[in-house]
Amino acid sequence: MKRKLSIILSTVTLTGSLLTACSSSTNEAKNSPAPSAAANTPAATAAPATPAPAASKKQVEIFSWWTGAGEEAGLQGLIKLFKDKYPDIEVINAAVAGGAGTNAKAVLASRMQGGDPPSAFQVHGGAELNTGWVAAGKVSPLNDLYDKEGWKDKFPKDLVDMVSKDGNIYSVPVNIHRGNVIFYNKKIFDQNGLKAPTTFDEFIKVADALKAKGITPLALGDKEPWTATMLFENVLLGEFGADDYKKLWTGEIPFDDARVKKSLETFKKMLSYVNKDHAARNWQDAAQLVAKGEAAMNNMGDWAKGYFTTDLKLKANEDFGWVASPNTDGTFMVVTDTFALPKDSKDQATAKEFLKVLGSVEGQDVFNPLKGSIPARVDADTSKYDVYGKTTIEDFKKSKLTPSMAHGSAAPEGFTTQANQAINIFVTQGDVEQTAKALKQAQDANGMKK
Ligand code: GAL
Repeated sequence: MKRKLSIILSTVTLTGSLLTACSSSTNEAKNSPAPSAAANTPAATAAPATPAPAASKKQVEIFSWWTGAGEEAGLQGLIKLFKDKYPDIEVINAAVAGGAGTNAKAVLASRMQGGDPPSAFQVHGGAELNTGWVAAGKVSPLNDLYDKEGWKDKFPKDLVDMVSKDGNIYSVPVNIHRGNVIFYNKKIFDQNGLKAPTTFDEFIKVADALKAKGITPLALGDKEPWTATMLFENVLLGEFGADDYKKLWTGEIPFDDARVKKSLETFKKMLSYVNKDHAARNWQDAAQLVAKGEAAMNNMGDWAKGYFTTDLKLKANEDFGWVASPNTDGTFMVVTDTFALPKDSKDQATAKEFLKVLGSVEGQDVFNPLKGSIPARVDADTSKYDVYGKTTIEDFKKSKLTPSMAHGSAAPEGFTTQANQAINIFVTQGDVEQTAKALKQAQDANGMKK
């Protein structure tokens, strides 16, 4: 158990920027001034402790990486709903900035290791939960909550399987994001008489036409390397198809397979169409290029859709369009955000009240229209979703589902960290052989077997 956790810890780097965790609380008592120096004198220390009036107040501390544009609004909506229902419970929002949990995962690992867990934390369903926190024995099973709330048939079976291990259910999915989407600027496409590409060949034709007009074809912001990894995993999906793509994560197909190399070549070609300043931008900055008409397309998960509609007030199908990334129509790259309950957290009953709201129809329908995702529940109110949401809810039902590696579901955290490094180097150096070798080594080193 200890070994497993140390694997998790060794895969994340704790940086100074982590200290900028944006914990916030609306409860005044939480923000009371620090004790004065006099309180540290021996006399003061010896005095009997007077419990602070707020100490008995119930609290729930929610840990995620949802801060800022495109990330935060859904969480705030959920917190508000919870507060309306439970005015006596204080909510502490312990979100740590950084897309895809770039910083949050390291902070979480250190808090869990240090015996200071939050009440509930964001974790992707699949490997990130199961080979990470469940295997390390760090999270509580939630079967009782699922039974009490009658949830077992309220989430798609595939999703419940992704958050289960050995018959126990370990987290509550709040959403399903789609990872294999290309968002595009409609005006640019219409004005240039272009159709959204559905195959790699079409993508290259469209990109060449845009380039010839002086328009940046593809927006990328890989200041945090996971965005490039995402683009690459979608190329893998397009190249392998859903069934074989899945075999990469079970070790049935090795990473030195010729199709991986072909994917790297295609990926390299796609990278030749991106904005020059890609390494200085984060995902929002890249999506913004498309929003402003400074680039034509952006391959991103549909949190970008939340950013477009909730933050930038754009309209789906009017200001921006979308299409599955090349060759992946009929396949849905699943990125599911779920919340788990640390075994060592003090007040599990109160934490479960939060999970109850997060897993309710009402909670999901407050959160997801703002976040750009679709509800994880099968019985949500579809009238609350715009045309993008409604279409995606239908696509999810009829598509082949595949787990995202870039977002933790397909492979252990150790593999994802090494893949991010290899892809980051590939973006600047473009060495196909070397990168396939690095990915194969990561596959072997992380026990990815069926
Ligand atoms: C993913 C997460 C999404 C979104 C995205 C960008 O890992 O599942 O909800 O937050 O990162 O940060």
